[in-house]
Amino acid sequence: MKKTRFDFQKMKDEGEKVVWITAYDYPTAEIAEKAGMDMLLVGDSLGMCVYGYAGTLRVTMEQCLLHCEAVRRAAPNTFIIGDMPFLSYQTSVADAVCNAGRFHKVAEVDAIKLEGGRRVCPQIKAIADGGMLVMGHIGLTPQSSGQLGGFKAQGRTTETALELIADAQAIERAGAFSILVEAVPPEVCKIIRDTLTIPVYSIGAGVEADGQLMIVSDLLGIFQAFTPKFVKKYANLGAEMEKAFAAYVDEVRHAAFPLPEHTYSMVAGELEKLNSALAAK
Ligand code: KIV
Repeated sequence: MKKTRFDFQKMKDEGEKVVWITAYDYPTAEIAEKAGMDMLLVGDSLGMCVYGYAGTLRVTMEQCLLHCEAVRRAAPNTFIIGDMPFLSYQTSVADAVCNAGRFHKVAEVDAIKLEGGRRVCPQIKAIADGGMLVMGHIGLTPQSSGQLGGFKAQGRTTETALELIADAQAIERAGAFSILVEAVPPEVCKIIRDTLTIPVYSIGAGVEADGQLMIVSDLLGIFQAFTPKFVKKYANLGAEMEKAFAAYVDEVRHAAFPLPEHTYSMVAGELEKLNSALAAK
């Protein structure tokens, strides 16, 4: 059965970890639901993992909605989070509420996620006041990678850690149901987790969190451009795919594929009839 925010809160309170990955397409989401994922994030990381962009800034609402729809169809019993893309919420509180609503109307997501701390709290509050579930996202926030000087770990000094803790507290006060902390030292993530009552999830922020997110393309070993320090590859599907593609290329070039067992036979007697018809022409 699909979990709710109350299940996630209970899991935090009872020390049970929430496990989730990103998913962008139907087959992956279907398999993830079968494997027992608690949640799926249709992340704007799809810009890099699916479309080959250098970052997430080019990703549009339309792309996010299309991928959310596919994931929703594939995983009807999993809690699905739509990721609000760049400029879908930064521009105004009204834009934020409207675009958060589109994720629900078009793709029937269960919650949305947006990046940023105190500076996006008016948006978080307005979306939550609109009756929707919001997940905050602090630390390495890829949509601000220009300001952060790249895809870099955050909160590694007292000053920046204190800023993150203040951001997390403000997000909770604004009405978010949970927070994702990305690429932050585990000690800082633990302080945030212990300070807040809502669940605090980690991607690259250590084990002392209420659950873990991984980018599916990293976990499966498909994403080739770079591998962040916090990634563990549970498979090397990229290499497996390359092997399979190379074998197919080789077999087709040497007429070793397709074999008779990969083809359809004509209805009995029809081949003879066809040959007679052709001969009579
Ligand atoms: O888009 C995404 O997948 C994310 C993760 C990087 C946390 O937001």
